[in-house]
Amino acid sequence: MKRRIDQILGNFGYCSRWQARRWINEGRISHNGVVLTDFSSKVEPRELLIDGEPIAFPDGMLILLNKPLGYVCSHESGEGPRVYDLLPPRWQDREPKVVSIGRLDKDTSGLLLLTDQSALVQRWTSPKHHVEKVYRATLDRELDPGVIGQFAAGIALRGEAKVCLPAALTIIDAKLAEVTLSEGRYHQVRRMFAACGYQVEALHRQRFGDIELGDLPEGQWRALPLPAAGS
Ligand code: URA
Repeated sequence: MKRRIDQILGNFGYCSRWQARRWINEGRISHNGVVLTDFSSKVEPRELLIDGEPIAFPDGMLILLNKPLGYVCSHESGEGPRVYDLLPPRWQDREPKVVSIGRLDKDTSGLLLLTDQSALVQRWTSPKHHVEKVYRATLDRELDPGVIGQFAAGIALRGEAKVCLPAALTIIDAKLAEVTLSEGRYHQVRRMFAACGYQVEALHRQRFGDIELGDLPEGQWRALPLPAAGS
């Protein structure tokens, strides 16, 4: 959709709408090979060049991040370093805002998705959609095989009336398990293990729906194609 140039520069985090007028006067903005001089002219964001470069993700973004331990998914500073601090600074000023699709605890690492598409956040975090999430959990003691049946039957969490949906648990090593959930309750994996008498010492997410973390290095991100609407 065509939008005013000053609005585009502001909404994609390049500069304030006020500064946009200066950038335009300085001849930094062009369209179809023509330097634009009127900040109120309307163009398609994907056709605009700023200092000869196209706008990053003009149609929206989906980002895969390998979240390191110690980072918070909140936008607030004061709770520790934020996952947003690992992304290009300009993205923090984008409107709509870049947000995480669900959250990982500060002491959980691994796959985190971020997007500026609110419909995608709603779809992929909605309890109706049952998007599968796969975690590796390291426990404080050796796993009893009986825990597989407890997870499969649906764990009752302290303080919650509704039991969890059945979850798949595979014992990988004496104190290491892989857990597949199709819900996203608060601290769910830690609380499920706590209900069975275990403490989670390390938690790492490997998969979200069909998206795998793969060999993306810790603290690094890469862009993914936006899924078709409804998928
Ligand atoms: N379950 C948890 O307990 N913590 C997370 O970060 C994700 C799932």
